[in-house]
Formats: sequence, structure tokens, C-alpha cells
Amino acid sequence: MKRWYLWVGLLALGLLAFAAGGMAEDLWKTLSESRYATNWHYIPGKPPGFYKGTEPHGAVLRTFVNNIAYDAIQAKAGGYPDGAVIVKENYAPDGKKLGAITVMKKVKGYDPEHGDWFWAKYGPDGRVQASGKVASCIACHGRAKAQDYVFSTSIK
Ligand code: HEC
Repeated sequence: MKRWYLWVGLLALGLLAFAAGGMAEDLWKTLSESRYATNWHYIPGKPPGFYKGTEPHGAVLRTFVNNIAYDAIQAKAGGYPDGAVIVKENYAPDGKKLGAITVMKKVKGYDPEHGDWFWAKYGPDGRVQASGKVASCIACHGRAKAQDYVFSTSIK
């Protein structure tokens, strides 16, 4: 048995997870600096501000898009271009306690089989809870593949 295959494999997986974590931390920094809650657009197709969410993300949601995503939605571009970012804040039913922040970022060439989205989930303090080509995010959002994996608004 060539045990070293296993170790090389594990090392490669570890490095991939590490790289995804670094991307997620950089993304969080960019998001904080952008002050998206005041400077970005609410996602078209959902009420501006807080609205009632469905499973699994939370009872009350607020969703923002950057200019790149917003322009593509308005132009009905058919898909999101490189650099498009969608940020969703997930609140408890009282609409006050922030539970998690989930983000999708389009990165050209990152994951061509699944629409080139980078997925990330953060705690309210910005701690990375999941990031990268997250299988659970991709599996469920795959139901919205016709809208480039985005449920809340149409891109066509
Ligand atoms: C079981 C299905 C499911 C899973 C798993 C899931 N989502 Fe979602 N997601 C949804 C639904 C449904 C919406 C629409 C929100 C609503 O209106 O309640 C949504 C909305 C979003 C949005 C706003 C853009 C859009 O598609 O409407 C982002 C960003 C997002 N999810 C990120 C993530 C991330 C990151 C993960 C993985 C950590 C994830 N989601 C896992 C079902 C899922």
C-alpha cells in the first residue's frame, strides 16, 4: 500500500481549505470597508430593507448587491459578471439579532462547473464558518441554476 498518496491527498485538501479561508477573510475585509449596508443596493426583486425569509437562511433577511451585480440584474444580462457580490444578512425572528452573513462572489474561472461562485458564511463577528466551493450551498442553490444560482431575483 502506498500510504504516502493518502498523506499527499490530505495535504492538498488542507491547502485548498486554507486558501479558501484566506479568500473568505479578504472578502470580509472588503465587505466591511465597503460599508455595504449604506453604500450598496438592496437586491431588486425583494422588498428594500428587512423582509421575511424562507428556510434555511433565517426568519428575517436583508440582502445587498454591489454595483456590478446590480447593473447586470437591471440589464437582464443573463448571468453575473466577474466581481459581482451578493451579501445576505440573516436575522432571528425579532429582526434584531444578526445570526449569520452569507455571501456569494463571482470569481471568473474559480468553479466553472457551478457558475464560478465563491461561497462564504460568517458569524456576526466576521468569523469564517464555511467558505470556498461549499457543497451544501451549491447543491441547494443549484435549484436556481436558471437564474445563475440566485434565488431572490431574475437575471434574464
Ligand atoms: C437548503 C437550501 C439552501 C442552502 C443549503 C443554502 N441556501 Fe442560500 N438561499 C436559499 C434560498 C431559498 C434563498 C432565498 C432566500 C429567501 O428568500 O428566503 C437563498 C438566498 C441566498 C443568498 C441571496 C441570493 C439569492 O440566491 O437569493 C445568498 C448570498 C446565499 N443564499 C448564500 C448561501 C451560502 C453562502 C450558503 C452555504 C453556506 C447557502 N446559501 C446555502 C437556499 C439555500
